[in-house]
Amino acid sequence: MKLLLLGNGGREHALAWKIAQSDRIEKLFIAPGNAGTASVGQNVPIATTDFDTLATFVENEGIEMIVVGPEAPLVEGVYDFFKTHPTLSHIPVIGPSKAGAVLEGSKDFAKAFMVRHGIPTAAYATFDGTQLSEAKAFLHTLSAPYVLKADGLCAGKGVIIAETLAEAESELEEMLGGRFGEASARVVIEEFMTGIECSVFAITDGTDYQLLPEAKDYKRIGEGDTGLNTGGMGSVSPVPFATEAWKARVEREIVRPTVDGLRAEGIDYKGFIFFGLINTAEGPKVIEYNCRMGDPETETVMLRLKSDLVDLFEGVAEGNLSERKVVFDERSAVCVMLVSGGYPGNYRKGLPIVLPKVEDSVVFHAGTKNEGDNIVTDGGRVIAVSSYGATAREALAQSMQGAEQIDFEGKYFRRDIGLDIL
Ligand SMILES: Nc1ncnc2c1ncn2[C@@H]1O[C@H](COP(=O)(O)OP(=O)(O)OP(=O)(O)O)[C@@H](O)[C@H]1O
Ligand SMILES: [Mg+2]
Repeated sequence: MKLLLLGNGGREHALAWKIAQSDRIEKLFIAPGNAGTASVGQNVPIATTDFDTLATFVENEGIEMIVVGPEAPLVEGVYDFFKTHPTLSHIPVIGPSKAGAVLEGSKDFAKAFMVRHGIPTAAYATFDGTQLSEAKAFLHTLSAPYVLKADGLCAGKGVIIAETLAEAESELEEMLGGRFGEASARVVIEEFMTGIECSVFAITDGTDYQLLPEAKDYKRIGEGDTGLNTGGMGSVSPVPFATEAWKARVEREIVRPTVDGLRAEGIDYKGFIFFGLINTAEGPKVIEYNCRMGDPETETVMLRLKSDLVDLFEGVAEGNLSERKVVFDERSAVCVMLVSGGYPGNYRKGLPIVLPKVEDSVVFHAGTKNEGDNIVTDGGRVIAVSSYGATAREALAQSMQGAEQIDFEGKYFRRDIGLDIL
């Protein structure tokens, strides 16, 4: 099969690494890819949202399947574009339709969907710019901390957790005042939930689904979960409290009602569903949906997925996913993300990377590019080092060794990924 993967981050390198292991792959292309994906497939310099140019490439190259990595092209309707394309509508696209991607693209839609289908989540209300006083009145019914979410996509920066009412009111005014542009024309205010977070992943053909290994990511820049939120400093899989009983409850109360709800509402959803969960005293609840795999969770999930990923994609495309087998590697996996100095604030790009062969780890590129003979930094998150271990502590130690060996000016990484849940 000739497969085209869209995206250029660590998630896509991990997906490409896994896809390339399949004996069903004749040729793997990645658009636009990065310096790392070039080692497992052929990069194609086309933007993920440039549908017309992608279509020309798909036609010319005889691509037989398209797999979508990031959320932007999904929210913009890449699935629908190819489904309605005059000559390419037969090509399976692994990723939800525009209507399905709204599960991530609109926090308000996601909350209302969960209420319609009895899926456990935080109590909430949504307000637009004409409802500032009602919104403030709603804040007064809640207790600190206060959770404010821009309705639309904000690349992980649209959620504010305010410690005081005064802070919450001023953040609310700023958000409804256009702080995140159109994305915060509406703001979701919800109760604060207490518990440990866990990312649960499923792949669905619209009727059935298969669970993939769960993982936990670490968003804060500082050790001990301190400092600013980032795109993700690392991940660990499995998650100890995600026992078989806990996962069975998650399937019963969250995953199955979500898949059935989408179908009941006539929403075409074939692809990954990322359930951002929190394990509260009342049980697992949904913080959010994402309509794609997580980053940096994919960098550990793909290590623990023993099954052929392309076989699962074929199950999605043919609507017989339930017949496909999913096998997990029982070992633990830990991913440590190397980031640019100053990230998530200002940081420099174009710095040469010293990349020795790292034994006993898998190195995934997140923000890199080729420059002459060099590989240079090209983002806040630069390189992810993922390793196996009999325990998460062993896997972390292995990844730390790799993180020490790889070098670029200003390199920073956390040394405590996974230790809090051991
Ligand atoms: N109701 C809540 N109670 C407690 N913490 C919350 C709540 N909602 C969000 N958070 C915290 O804020 C983080 C970001 O929220 P959320 O996942 O909804 O936003 P996002 O911007 O879509 O994130 P991502 O980039 O992971 O998709 C969560 O991982 C969690 O730590
Ligand atoms: Mg999200």
